[in-house]
Amino acid sequence: MAQVELEADNVLTGEEEDESLLLSMSSSSNKLQTREGWWTTFVLNDGCWMDRQAAMSVSLVRAQFVPRDDDVLLATYPKCGTTWLKALSFAIANRHRHPVVSASDHPLLTQSPHDLAPFIELPFRHIHPLAAALDAIPSPRLLGTHMPHHLLPPRIGCRIVYLCREPKDVVISTWHFMNKVIEGFSIDFDKAFELFVDGCSPFGPIWNHYLGYWNKHVEEPDRVLFLKYDDMMADPAGHVKKLAEFLRVPFTDDEVDAGVVEEVVRLCSFEKLSRLPVNSSVVAGRIGVDERPMKNSVFFRKGKVRDWKNYLTEEMAKKLDAAIEEKLKGSGLTL
Ligand code: A3P
Repeated sequence: MAQVELEADNVLTGEEEDESLLLSMSSSSNKLQTREGWWTTFVLNDGCWMDRQAAMSVSLVRAQFVPRDDDVLLATYPKCGTTWLKALSFAIANRHRHPVVSASDHPLLTQSPHDLAPFIELPFRHIHPLAAALDAIPSPRLLGTHMPHHLLPPRIGCRIVYLCREPKDVVISTWHFMNKVIEGFSIDFDKAFELFVDGCSPFGPIWNHYLGYWNKHVEEPDRVLFLKYDDMMADPAGHVKKLAEFLRVPFTDDEVDAGVVEEVVRLCSFEKLSRLPVNSSVVAGRIGVDERPMKNSVFFRKGKVRDWKNYLTEEMAKKLDAAIEEKLKGSGLTL
C-alpha cells in the first residue's frame, strides 16, 4: 500500500504518467483503450468507461480502501437517485439518534446527503485525506459508490443497496448534470445520446453496471438489495419500510402508527430537500468532475419519472429501449 501511495503522489501531473500508474494497478497489461467521451477523453478501465480522474480514483480506492463487515454500501449508476437513497438511508438508520418527527435540528436540514453518506471514490485525486476521513466514521458506516460491482475493492463483503433507474431518464439527467457541472462547456445532446447508447457514458455501459449488481442480488438477495427509482417514486413508504428491514432497523408498529415512515418520506422528498439552503444556495467544498468545486444544487433538478418524453424523439427512445432490452435479455432484470 505504501508503494501505491508513493507512486500516486509522483504521478499526479501528466496524462502519460497517470496511465502508467493505472496500468500498473489494472489487471490488463495492454495500453488502456480511450475514446472521445462526453466532455473529455474517456478510458476503458476493466470494461468500464470513465474519465482519467475517475479511473485514477477507482484504482486508488481498490488499493487503499479498508472495508468493514458492517458497512452498508449505497451503490448507483450516476443520476439514478443517489442523493435520495443516501438521504433515506441516513434518516432511517439514524432515526433514534436523530428523530424525524417534528425535527428542527435533523442533520439532513443542514448537511448534504453526500456529506452524511460519502462516496468512497470521491473527491477523485484527493483520496488520501478522504481515506482518513472514511476511517474516522464510526461503524456502521453508510457509504456511497458509483463503481461497478466488478471494480469494487476486492475485500468488500458488506451489504449493498443498489438503485437503478429507467435509462432514458438517466441519459437526460446526466446530460443536464454535466452541462451544469462543467460550467461554460456545452455538451452536444445528440453526441451524448449516441455515446450513451453505445455504452460510453460515465461508469458505463449502464447495462453492465445494472447487470453486475443484479446478478449479485440474484446470487445473494440477503446481501444485495436491488431497487428501482420509478418504483420508489410510486410507493416511497413501502420502500422506506423495505430499506429499514434491509438495514436491520425495521419500523415498530408504534412507529408506523405514529407516522414515522411518512415523516421519513417527507423529510427526504425532492420538494423538501431541494428547497433547503444547504441544497440550493451553498457551494460545497466538494471537488467534482474535472476537479471543479460543486454546488449542492447540481444534485437536484426535477426529480420526476419519464422526463425523457420532453427530450427524446420517438426514434431515439426506441433505439435506447432496443439496446437495453438486448443487453438485459435472459437476465431476469426488467426496467
Ligand atoms: P433529474 O435530473 O431527472 O431531476 P443522483 O442523486 O444519482 O445524482 O441523481 C440525481 C437525480 O435524482 C436528479 O434527477 C435529481 O433531481 C433526482 N433527485 C434528487 N433528489 C431527489 C429526491 N429527494 N427524490 C427524488 N429524486 C431526487
